[in-house]
Amino acid sequence: MAIINLIEQKRDGGELTTEQIEWFVRAYTAGDVPDYQAAALMMAIYLRGMNRREIVDLTLAMARSGEQLDLHEVAPFIVDKHSSGGVGDKTTLVVQPMVAACGVPVGKMSGRGLGSSGGTLDKMESFPGWSPDLTLEQFKRQLADIGLVLAGQTGDLAPADGKLYALRDVTGTVASTPLIAASIMSKKLASGADAIVLDVKMGQGAFMPTVEMARELARIMVDIGQDAGRQTVALITDMNQPLGHAVGNALEVKEALDTLTGGGPADFWGHCLDVAGYMLLLAGKAGTVEEAKALATAARDDGRALDKFRALVHAQGGDPSTVDHPERLPQARLVEPVHAGRDGFLAGINARAIGWSCVRLGAGRQVKEDTIDYGVGMIIPVKVGDHLAAGDLLGTIHANDPARLAQARREFLEALTWSDEPVAPLPHLYEIVE
Ligand code: URA
Repeated sequence: MAIINLIEQKRDGGELTTEQIEWFVRAYTAGDVPDYQAAALMMAIYLRGMNRREIVDLTLAMARSGEQLDLHEVAPFIVDKHSSGGVGDKTTLVVQPMVAACGVPVGKMSGRGLGSSGGTLDKMESFPGWSPDLTLEQFKRQLADIGLVLAGQTGDLAPADGKLYALRDVTGTVASTPLIAASIMSKKLASGADAIVLDVKMGQGAFMPTVEMARELARIMVDIGQDAGRQTVALITDMNQPLGHAVGNALEVKEALDTLTGGGPADFWGHCLDVAGYMLLLAGKAGTVEEAKALATAARDDGRALDKFRALVHAQGGDPSTVDHPERLPQARLVEPVHAGRDGFLAGINARAIGWSCVRLGAGRQVKEDTIDYGVGMIIPVKVGDHLAAGDLLGTIHANDPARLAQARREFLEALTWSDEPVAPLPHLYEIVE
């Protein structure tokens, strides 16, 4: 088979056969297709789309590109969650330890930053020494020992996604329903969870700008999960403004730690409870979502969730004492407050613009080889609907370079829109796809 034929076929609006999709995934994973041709195919798929059969074929081929875990020898029932990507989305850092603390093992394969959205693995690597690179044996042992694992798409698990994800990040091919569905569900199927809660973000800062598009992505992923025998639920949630206050790796870790110790922004905590509630419900720990949320809250309040987080840091090579001393996490040298220049109601905080601005500060990658600057980012404590007076604090920029700080400050102010009339706060949860 010749890759050029697949590229041209898709470019011209044709369908790829099952055999072609399986061949491409195998050949690219093995290094037999170069990045520039894979990128051309990703762009053709981005522009032309895929039908349902092609999406399922791509997902299964990617899931089978490495090992597929059967975790039942170490835990009878495993749950997992995955977000379609957002700005300030540090949900896993709170939800995973809370659910594990309720006695439900969570074996999770996460990703790195993608486009303007941050990645859980980049955030966790703010802990010096912490590594997501686990062998299958280590994955299983850790799940049995402490009930939670946070691994990357390394060699053995869905390696095709590992390569394609990094390529899409820097080739403008992220926001594509088939590519996102295959990327997320291939990881979920390969890592062997029995139940999966999908957090499908919609809005300006998400890859799906409307509820309709988010619903379509959610429906495809839920169907793929159910067909593979996994209980799967998707929550469609808001990403029209950053989630919580912090955007940037170590800043988000600190906010997650705050939230695990009873503080943290209200919108973020509410979101964590929704996701944890559905994970515990699918695991049969509670009869209703409200009961499940009460279990999660109790695990936070009595410190069990924080203990689990410490165990996660320790098990994967980080220093667990940093959890109790977040000031030891990387910090930016320059921290500058930004104040409102006018009175009014905040009508919009463009999450996508904020996400890209943080990438330019160094919190994400603009080319594959970029290294992450863990301490940089923004803290934005205001929310859409807030009434502010001139001089009120809008946020702080954390930077390591004066020129980048000045640019981020400009971009932050440009990302805000104002109204003289009251503005309703944004909803958090739009709908649930089961
Ligand atoms: N998360 C993923 O794992 N993959 C995507 O393509 C988008 C979000």
